[in-house]
Amino acid sequence: MKTQILSPAEVEKAAGILKGGGLLGIPTETVYGLGADGLNPMAVGQIFQAKGRPQDNPLILHIWSAGWLERYCEDIPDMAYRLAEAFWPGPLTMILKCKRRTPQELEELKNGPVCSYTHFGPRVIPDAATAGLDTVGMRCPAHPLCREVIRLAQTPIAAPSGNTSGRPSPTTARHMLEDMEGKIPAILDGGPCAVGVESTILDLTCRPPRLLRPGGVTLEQLREVLGEVAVDPAVTRQMEAGEKPRAPGMKYRHYAPKAPVVAVRGDPERGAAYIREHLSHTRWDGVICFEEFLPMFAEGPTERPVISLGPATDQGEQARRLFDALRAMDGTDVKRIWAQCPGDGGIGLAVANRLNKAAGFHIIEV
Ligand code: TXA
Ligand code: MG
Repeated sequence: MKTQILSPAEVEKAAGILKGGGLLGIPTETVYGLGADGLNPMAVGQIFQAKGRPQDNPLILHIWSAGWLERYCEDIPDMAYRLAEAFWPGPLTMILKCKRRTPQELEELKNGPVCSYTHFGPRVIPDAATAGLDTVGMRCPAHPLCREVIRLAQTPIAAPSGNTSGRPSPTTARHMLEDMEGKIPAILDGGPCAVGVESTILDLTCRPPRLLRPGGVTLEQLREVLGEVAVDPAVTRQMEAGEKPRAPGMKYRHYAPKAPVVAVRGDPERGAAYIREHLSHTRWDGVICFEEFLPMFAEGPTERPVISLGPATDQGEQARRLFDALRAMDGTDVKRIWAQCPGDGGIGLAVANRLNKAAGFHIIEV
């Protein structure tokens, strides 16, 4: 199969692929997704194949507006609507109870016409998408092209990040092509992603609501709207053997380039000095550092790969650059990557979370 790159002008063709049960690389404001019609279990099944994703890792659904929530969810707390008002469309995924079918609906289904994507599960979303859980992640994305695809297709789009499982998420159509070339019919090119890290995931099925994955909507912003918000331990540390994170995906090795990563946290000046002191003076050690410290690493006899993560104080820029930086390191032959890591405020929490996961929580505090 040849994977086509579609331009924004070809958005109708893109929506047609989805409606026809095919897979589509789809731009969102966070990262590119690998989309399929979320109501079609056959289409959803192909996502797992193309990504090499474990079947027990559920997908989130991308919807047009909060007005679609009642089609797919039940027991929706008032908090969900307050959050939607504040942050949708935008980089926030809410975990809610998935809507069950009534016995009458199930009966009607059994007696009705059967088509290739009829599913007879107990809930309105196929088990193939929810991994059989009784909850579902709902996200209303802000990227105009993504919204246009949802509007044209008139179906919730199931989409995980568009990377091969374990690799850094794609933030450009080119990244996605690296991973999905020959595996999917098309990628809709919506330019580089504005946020750069995946959406914030908030579980609203427990009290207080719990942050499962930090992202573009910050913990501080969530607390402003909701008051108390708990933080899942998987956000800041490695899960131990036998421990089960609430977001199944958080237990897998993730975001990892080929070479091992050492994350260095704390004061940026001290961090840069620490790296310079411990770096081997060969081209086998790569560095991802804040913009200000580029000259410190670029000089010297070795042609070591050095990539800027953006200015130390600009965490938005760091979020936009992180996955590209990790992927760029894969294009070199480094054996170890030293990376400066921001503090936990604002979107820094999301950048630190991804970097720490890429490092397998091998973190040095300076
Ligand atoms: O920004 C994003 O969220 C991107 C774009 C494409 O929208 N999507 C994305 O999907 O990051 P994915 O599948 O790569 O990450 C979703 C995470 C996974 O860790 C998954 O385990 C978790 O959400 N998740 C999905 N459904 C869940 C549920 N019902 N309960 C708890 N966690 C869930
Ligand atoms: Mg992912």
